[in-house]
Amino acid sequence: MPTSESEHQRVDLDWSRMPRHIAIIMDGNGRWAQARNLPRVFGHRQGVLALKPIVKTCARLGVSVLTVYAFSTENWIRPKAEVDALMDLLMEFLRAETAELKMEGVSIRTIGDIAKLPPRARSALQESMRRTANEQRMILNLALNYGGRDELVRAVNRWIQRRDNEALTEETLASYLDTAGLPDPDLLIRSSGEERISNFMLWQIAYAEIYVTKTMWPDFDPEELIKAIRAFQSRTRRFGAVE
Ligand code: FPP
Repeated sequence: MPTSESEHQRVDLDWSRMPRHIAIIMDGNGRWAQARNLPRVFGHRQGVLALKPIVKTCARLGVSVLTVYAFSTENWIRPKAEVDALMDLLMEFLRAETAELKMEGVSIRTIGDIAKLPPRARSALQESMRRTANEQRMILNLALNYGGRDELVRAVNRWIQRRDNEALTEETLASYLDTAGLPDPDLLIRSSGEERISNFMLWQIAYAEIYVTKTMWPDFDPEELIKAIRAFQSRTRRFGAVE
């Protein structure tokens, strides 16, 4: 929620039409680093730094859920040193930021098959989720070892084990997804200019508005976020109907 009248004016957004759920594909860390002759891992480190103000701004704007694509089911094929560095950055982020996120009213959750993450990363996640479980202002949903197809296959397999001969409906399938109970994203942002979905939230983005910016993720700041929300608010959402 806006904290003051001046905050309303400063961000010049329609407070009655905020996206409830924003999903972000944080792309371009590697290219950001390479353009500066720095190792790719340095780009990921800057990427984590960029994430923090975005989380805070979303919480303050009254967004209910922010889902960020931090590690995909396909990312395991990257060099081992890069995968290890990403896991270390995740743990550093959780260690350094959980207390402040809790103070901001942010509850940390995950989507993806986290059982396959290294045990050290898993236990850091479980600890952060436990500490922030009661926070109500916003959910920060970390997509980790996440793939949209993998999520659908896991959901259907869970359903097969429990079903009682009834047909599968959209509502039932949605209730078996990792995002069960969460609203679908209204706005999907992708940084670095690529116009791809990359196996992200295939089911949930059915009616999301897509916003692509050329800005590399490490340079994506709250000003950029507000630009994306402004673009979202300028669009007419029809959900398959006529205007
Ligand atoms: C894409 O950049 C980004 C990723 C594969 C990982 C995103 C991860 C972070 C921002 C940091 C980790 C997150 C947390 C929550 C600790 P890329 O490497 O594909 O960039 P490129 O397309 O320029 O090579």
